[in-house]
Amino acid sequence: MSALRSRTLRFFALAALLICGALVIAACGGSDGDYQTAETHDTHEADDAALADLTTGELSEAALAGQKLFSANCSACHGATANGTNQGPPLVHQIYEPGHHSNASFVIAVARGVRAHHWDFGNMPPVPDLEIDEIHQVICYVRELQLSSGIIDEIPTSTPC
Ligand code: HEC
Repeated sequence: MSALRSRTLRFFALAALLICGALVIAACGGSDGDYQTAETHDTHEADDAALADLTTGELSEAALAGQKLFSANCSACHGATANGTNQGPPLVHQIYEPGHHSNASFVIAVARGVRAHHWDFGNMPPVPDLEIDEIHQVICYVRELQLSSGIIDEIPTSTPC
């Protein structure tokens, strides 16, 4: 009687272990899938947020001036909302947040051009017609788009907007 009971107990213990194991595996597989979906979704939200900002006109005065300069000088390659084209990368992108590409690197990119190193679009030619104040306005525009799309939490203090 007691031998039968302990065998039954062992059977249940084993069954419980197996079920737990299966649950853990299922949970891990499931969360991996969720993570990927969330990531893809975020990228779409970033673009939508950037576009929404353009139409709702929530940009600062400096960024609004920068928006005009950006569409005249940069958007042919970087896209109207700095979301990229087949000629150049999106600047509303993790790579171009201030920790990776400071405001100074934007000034240098515009003044000297950029040799292709992150992407396969080719080199960026210099954009010589912009004054330093105008480049700062363009930076305001890009930083505010980065802010509204959640890539950065705050505009870097070196940005005049
Ligand atoms: C003819 C196309 C073209 C135009 C116009 C253009 N860019 Fe670019 N830009 C590129 C390409 C391509 C790259 C990516 C180079 C790489 O890293 O592979 C780039 C990279 C950059 C970078 C990253 C620099 C770095 O250090 O990696 C910045 C910042 C930038 N562009 C800003 C601008 C701004 C601001 C304007 C307008 C004033 C502008 N670009 C106009 C094509 C262009």
